[in-house]
Amino acid sequence: MNAHITRVLQCSAVLVAAGLVLTACGSSDGDSSSGQSKSPSFSGRGPITYVAAKDSSPVTQNLIDAWNKEHPKEKVTYIPLPGDVNQQRQQMIQNAETKSDAYTVLSLDVVWTSEFAAHQWIDQLPAGQFPLAKMLKPTVETAKYRGNLYAVPYAADGGVLYYRSDLLQKAGVAKPPTTWAEMKAACAKVEKLPEAKGMSCYAGQFQKYEGLTVNFAEAVNSAGGVITDASGKPDVDTPAAKKGLDFLVDSFKDGTIPKEAITYQEEEGRQAFQSGKLIFLRNWPYVYSLAEKSKVRGKVGVAPLPGLDGAGSSSLGGHNLALSSFAKNKATALDFMKYFSSQESTATYLKDASVAPPYEALYDDPAMVKQYPYLPALKKSILSAVPRPRVVQYGDATSAIQQQAYAALNGDKSSAQALKDLQSDLQKLATP
Ligand code: GLC
Repeated sequence: MNAHITRVLQCSAVLVAAGLVLTACGSSDGDSSSGQSKSPSFSGRGPITYVAAKDSSPVTQNLIDAWNKEHPKEKVTYIPLPGDVNQQRQQMIQNAETKSDAYTVLSLDVVWTSEFAAHQWIDQLPAGQFPLAKMLKPTVETAKYRGNLYAVPYAADGGVLYYRSDLLQKAGVAKPPTTWAEMKAACAKVEKLPEAKGMSCYAGQFQKYEGLTVNFAEAVNSAGGVITDASGKPDVDTPAAKKGLDFLVDSFKDGTIPKEAITYQEEEGRQAFQSGKLIFLRNWPYVYSLAEKSKVRGKVGVAPLPGLDGAGSSSLGGHNLALSSFAKNKATALDFMKYFSSQESTATYLKDASVAPPYEALYDDPAMVKQYPYLPALKKSILSAVPRPRVVQYGDATSAIQQQAYAALNGDKSSAQALKDLQSDLQKLATP
């Protein structure tokens, strides 16, 4: 407690001092391009930490190594967290609740911005100091809370359909499916091939965690339903939403989705696809580069998600950098965030790990499109992706969704009952 008060007092002193210094800086360096002076609270230089999910590629560590070489007195230590987004959130919240300075720069899932900002666990950022105008607009919106910037995007994400191009071709399926019915029909043909023996048709992420919220939302949206309406009111107990959930429930029942997929997060699905167990897989763009280094190399196609009557719609995913309110060396942290979220760094993530960048220009860059022909389609899918609710109590909303969707997929409840219960759970949250 005392330490906290001391820190607050020290901060105000720094604020005043920095305010004075800034006036002088503003006139001497003539930098008015950002339209915003450097935020005076970002003071202190020295070692910091970067806290993010364990990277399945070496890019995160490579970028940090390059920074550390240039900044020997402001070294960044990477603290890898578990791959499960729910566990990442829990660890970051624990750190914030104890006001620990162990975490400096946080890699936040796009759905956490409001919660972290409302609790003042992260600092507001100087928007003028980041090239936000060059980034995909929906992605930038995920980094804002009440119109102010609290994080900066470094990875956008949109769901895509991976498919075994070799098997589709062999089975005479000319192009990837755009509807669920077409996907099932394609599987029926592929499954007749001797080399498809023992393969399953489709999987996504169905374990009870954030990925299930994403897959449920995509199924509902891709059947023309919504979870909340345009004004934010829950509206999930509808025939359209039922058609979406039924696609998943029936697919589990009829074996289109293999039983074990009820335990899949992103990585388990990727491994199943890479080891030749799946014809189709719903996952994020990072999978492409890893699959191209696996047994299915050269046999992987990428298409937009299918839907009920036509193309489906993706949930908006992604990761943003935020600065822990309780951290030290915030001047270093801000510089590191600029470096890590720069077009150059995110181009490295794209080139070396097929992570979708926030910068619009990279999606049309000829060299990148040559490497990843699906980039223009991915850009469209991210631009039209459906954001998950941007609410402070997102944790409660998503856990209600996971609870009910899981019960339906597991066969504990009918989809009609699950949607009825979800509607009532969400209504209770909406009216505290
Ligand atoms: C990806 C997405 C993120 C989403 C998560 C679900 O990491 O970028 O937004 O919440 O997957 O598992």
